[in-house]
Amino acid sequence: MRVRQRYASETQLGSSFHHTSRTQKEGAGRGEFDTGARSIYICTQSEPDAFGSDPTRGTGPPHGMCARGSPFLFSALSNMTVLTVCNHKGGTGKTTSVIHIAAALGLSGQQVLVFDLDPQGFLTSTLDVNEPPPEESIAAFFDPDLDPGQIRLHEASGFDLVPSSSTLTRRMRRLNKPTDVLWVREALGELSLDYDLVVFDTAAAVTVYSLNALVACDHVLIPVLPEYQAVIGAEQTFQTAGMVHKKLNPAMQSRLMLFTQVDGRKRVHQTYREYIRGKYGASHVMDTEIRTSTSLTQAHDEGETVFDHDPNARGARDYANAVDELWTRMHSDAGPDEASESVKSDQTPPEPGSSPSDGDGTDSYAPSPPVSSR
Ligand SMILES: Nc1ncnc2c1ncn2[C@@H]1O[C@H](COP(=O)(O)OP(=O)(O)O)[C@@H](O)[C@H]1O
Ligand SMILES: [Mg+2]
Repeated sequence: MRVRQRYASETQLGSSFHHTSRTQKEGAGRGEFDTGARSIYICTQSEPDAFGSDPTRGTGPPHGMCARGSPFLFSALSNMTVLTVCNHKGGTGKTTSVIHIAAALGLSGQQVLVFDLDPQGFLTSTLDVNEPPPEESIAAFFDPDLDPGQIRLHEASGFDLVPSSSTLTRRMRRLNKPTDVLWVREALGELSLDYDLVVFDTAAAVTVYSLNALVACDHVLIPVLPEYQAVIGAEQTFQTAGMVHKKLNPAMQSRLMLFTQVDGRKRVHQTYREYIRGKYGASHVMDTEIRTSTSLTQAHDEGETVFDHDPNARGARDYANAVDELWTRMHSDAGPDEASESVKSDQTPPEPGSSPSDGDGTDSYAPSPPVSSR
């Protein structure tokens, strides 16, 4: 088990170093992180040639998050990927997903940077990071008088974090020009960051900030709690992201839904999972599902990731499998997201209670969701 050393060091975003987390540098060699259904190798610098080092990255740790038996699955990275996690509805698992995607990839040796773009800063506070002055936070992206290169990075649990700032709420009133959706894309372009993955957590609303994250990203992940309101929010988010793809971000490659907090005993969850899978198809819905896990809730309450809290917990296994699938999808050669034609747009979500078996109760048993076969 690796030792957590959170926030031991701070660097500036503009320094453009390869930010290797201290936990990886000081890890006890290559360890096997047992996730149950699959295993992830944690590759550290003490065995630099375990999976072959990348000459373009100097002496940094090798890439190597890998499903067992396929050690090079994740090793062929050349460019930074930008992922935006978004759903206009709250409580659907956005922040939890961002933290655990970043942590899983960080544990496997990927360099991950998370931006907390929610003005309420729940991700920042969940990780026990104090709100920094605006010039050292994500707010520096949206103020011409501030330099994004001066943003201070915080080391979180295997990844780097740019915290949120409550000044985003005030600043939003002045961000009303059409070009104000371009701040993040321009800042990322100027900074030349050296990360494998950049992830944006966003608020539960369509704001100039979530639009900025959609304009700047390669992929959109929409966590969906399979219940009526969250499904409505997910569908609206899917449409918003599609519009951004058409008008502002032709480079967007995929919009993916990820079921979270799935309770296999709730018939209503089964109903909405079937509806979403039937309407959007396999190209837009992840095979892997995140089940309800008390370990995720406990880890959240303790400001930890589930990988720190209980790496064998259901939540750890599900997020490891989800990241495995997500990474494969993000690095497939699918090209720009043109698959919206395949969406059956005439279908509408079942009203709550519209079917006799659609109660919220746990009276009828439905099997646990399948684990990704990817
Ligand atoms: N799979 C899960 N199992 C149990 N609780 C979860 C799960 N995912 C998220 N939660 C809990 O649900 C609440 C909302 O999750 P959060 O990620 O903050 O949602 P959002 O960012 O979309 O508002 C949090 O208390 C979190 O701990
Ligand atoms: Mg959140």
